[in-house]
Amino acid sequence: MEKRELIDEIRTEIEGLTQSPLYAYRVENGFQPVIGAGSLDARVVFVGEAPGEREARTGRPFVGASGRVLDELLASVGLSRDEIYITNIVNDRPPNNRDPRREELALYSPFLVRQLDIIRPAVIATLGRFAMDFLLKLYDAPQAGEKISRLHGRAIEMNADYGPAVLLPLYHPAVALYNASQRPALEADFQVLKDLCG
Ligand code: URA
Repeated sequence: MEKRELIDEIRTEIEGLTQSPLYAYRVENGFQPVIGAGSLDARVVFVGEAPGEREARTGRPFVGASGRVLDELLASVGLSRDEIYITNIVNDRPPNNRDPRREELALYSPFLVRQLDIIRPAVIATLGRFAMDFLLKLYDAPQAGEKISRLHGRAIEMNADYGPAVLLPLYHPAVALYNASQRPALEADFQVLKDLCG
């Protein structure tokens, strides 16, 4: 099957995920599930946590305030959204942007793993602690459990299910919104990403 068909299959499954604790909240609010967006041949896949309100209204990842910061950071290293792929661990918006719960991670994360296995990126750039923790554990990295303040901007070589890959933990772009002093760290880490992308 073509990559596009495989991704469309994932989309259909997520749309019909009535067993999710977040499904009723989606329907009551007229929200949409947010599936990954971008190139299916991307060398780098960004993984965030869960959609915010604007994302759930539009069905597209990182289109709110965090998305604007992300776009600026991408532009600072000459990357555009067309050449990367962006997705989240959880595809439905949790109420009031609360952290995703364990059972939600368990339910949605297989969709993330399937997207990664389809795209097979050389670099997985995690946005925030949630995505970093999840992927370090998933791929049995010895750094699992370490703090993002220690690991951000450090390229971690891993054996993903689909082959060797580099995990690059990044702070979530939202941190630059509530703590401007963190922005230089994000900018420096994007330079690391640029070097990894060649
Ligand atoms: N924050 C995330 O982690 N993901 C989005 O899609 C938007 C904001």
